[in-house]
Order: sequence, then C-alpha cells, then structure tokens
Amino acid sequence: MALSRLDSLYKAVIADHSRSPHHHGFLEGVEQLQLNNPTCGDVINLSVKFKDGVIEDIAFAGHGCTISTASSSMMTDAVIGKTKEEALRLADIFSKMVQGETDDQQKELGEAELMAGVSKFPQRIKCATLSWNALKKAIERSEM
Ligand code: FES
Repeated sequence: MALSRLDSLYKAVIADHSRSPHHHGFLEGVEQLQLNNPTCGDVINLSVKFKDGVIEDIAFAGHGCTISTASSSMMTDAVIGKTKEEALRLADIFSKMVQGETDDQQKELGEAELMAGVSKFPQRIKCATLSWNALKKAIERSEM
C-alpha cells in the first residue's frame, strides 16, 4: 500500500476511536483516578477494576483532544484482560514508541501502535500518554 494511503488509513482509525471511543464512561463501585495534562489542562478520569492481579474491566471519561481520546480508547482495548505487569510493560513500550524508539514489541499494543506517528509532534506526546500515565497510577494505587 502506498505510504500516503497507509497514512490516511491510520488517520481514519484514530478519528474513529476519537468519535466513538471504546470503554468510555465510568465503572460502578470503582474509585476513579483523575489525571490532567499540565500543558493544556485536559483531564482523564480512569476507572480500573482488578481481579486477582488482572485488569478485568476499564473505562475512561473526561475531556481531551482527538489524540488523547483515541489513545485512551486504544489503551483500554490493549490492556483489558492483561495482568498488571503486562499492562505496565505495554505502557513502557508505548511511552518509548511515541518518543521515537520503535521496535517489534510495539506490535503487542494492537491499534495503539498507530500512535507511533505522534513522535513527529513532540507537543502531542503528553496527549497520547495521558491515559497510559493514568493507568500506571491506578496500578500503583491498587498496590497500596
Ligand atoms: Fe489536551 Fe491533547 S490538547 S490532551
């Protein structure tokens, strides 16, 4: 596929996640974790339900840009059903990828791999990593 067509396909998938985000909302009976992007003030509210060290369910809400919303949607798809350790590993792979460090491991991110292009726009890295950072904090808090 020509590079420009591939680029359009990536953009369409990202736009689709932003328009119709997966796992959007709140989980009943689960404490929410709120995190903001200090560069723009946008906020994510993340609820994560753990069972036996596994992410049994996850949901996000709040307000953010297209990149932030799409990235949150993709993150929830990527980590649901994963252990805390696996989810932290994916968060690490994602963080390196959006900073331009690419390798084969990023395939494990599923559609979140499509966020690799953010590395060309450093001012958007915080948008893309907001939900992943919230997830890391939620996992940290679950260990306390
Ligand atoms: Fe606020 Fe992207 S501009 S999260």
